[in-house]
Amino acid sequence: MKFFVDTADISEIRELAAVGILDGVTTNPSLIAKTGRPIRDVIKEICQIVGGPVSAEVTATDFDGMVAEGERLARIAANVAVKVPSTWDGFRACRALRQLGHNVNVTLCFSANQALLAAKAGATFISPLIGRLDDLGLDGMEVIREIRTIYDNDKSFTTEILASSIRGPLHVKQAAIAGADIATVPPAVLKNLAKHPLTDKGLESFLSDWGKTGQTIL
Ligand code: E4P
Repeated sequence: MKFFVDTADISEIRELAAVGILDGVTTNPSLIAKTGRPIRDVIKEICQIVGGPVSAEVTATDFDGMVAEGERLARIAANVAVKVPSTWDGFRACRALRQLGHNVNVTLCFSANQALLAAKAGATFISPLIGRLDDLGLDGMEVIREIRTIYDNDKSFTTEILASSIRGPLHVKQAAIAGADIATVPPAVLKNLAKHPLTDKGLESFLSDWGKTGQTIL
């Protein structure tokens, strides 16, 4: 499973990219708003740091507006993936933008049927927002499992499942087990994946024992 980071924070992206585990970045209008900077500047800078797909979301809600905004966003850098919502206009814009040669991430997906429509529209990525479903007492991961089955049943589908709205390490593990192709993870959750108290405890005792030997490796 590939890792995208779900943020528009440049310093967080730089830090994670340096570790070598980042396959891409996702942003949304709320994340861009948090930066207080123009979307073009932020997306351009992210695209210079990360070579993989960088999702930039349209804010128009009609077909013509989405396609026009999508083309503008795609011109920022070759690795921009245009994000459109799971609406009829969004699916139509997805098809049009794909025909123009752009990668498209269909977002705000909350059902397997929306994911089916996105695949029919040729989406590059489908983003089911599992955390937001869980917030309502629903089972977000079940939607990922359903989409995996539906996509596997039709070999003509090439859309990748991008598990989104990840709230914690358990979501990451469950998404990988459920067969998501990618998880887009907030920086704090991504950093938490490496943490385990037994790792810290083990390291502490190894170093304490090693210190007593007086040896150095270099
Ligand atoms: C990603 O593409 C989505 O915009 C994002 O994962 C939403 O996450 P949230 O539900 O934590 O805002």
